[in-house]
Amino acid sequence: MKDLLWDKTLSVDVPEIDQDHRRLLELFNRLAHAVAEAEPQAEIEAIMDELISCTAWHFRHEERLMDKHGVPGRDEHRAEHQDLINSGRALQQQLQQSSRPPSAQEIEFLEHWLTGHIYGTDMAMGAHLAEVM
Ligand SMILES: [Fe+2]
Repeated sequence: MKDLLWDKTLSVDVPEIDQDHRRLLELFNRLAHAVAEAEPQAEIEAIMDELISCTAWHFRHEERLMDKHGVPGRDEHRAEHQDLINSGRALQQQLQQSSRPPSAQEIEFLEHWLTGHIYGTDMAMGAHLAEVM
């Protein structure tokens, strides 16, 4: 499978956020490799847990910056974060309960889960933050 690679189209023009996003992409790639190479379930679960936890931490990072700089639309952005965390945790629970690795479709879901929000809502936030930071 192909790794998710960082490129300029993913940059939101705020270095500290870009850095978080790169880390999340790396974790996603580690997860996809672990699944492709049929690594032990415990290892896959540990990476999945790190991906979700780091994402939750990163969302709080963005929310702090948006609050500090009064970014318009931050309530909607925060709600989108909550939905993403809920859907990520729901998938994580399903996988844990059935002790199985993510399917190809679930990996694809996680890819869009990660990049869709960056390409959409985060770009608008970045455009505003890049002007005021
Ligand atoms: Fe965001």
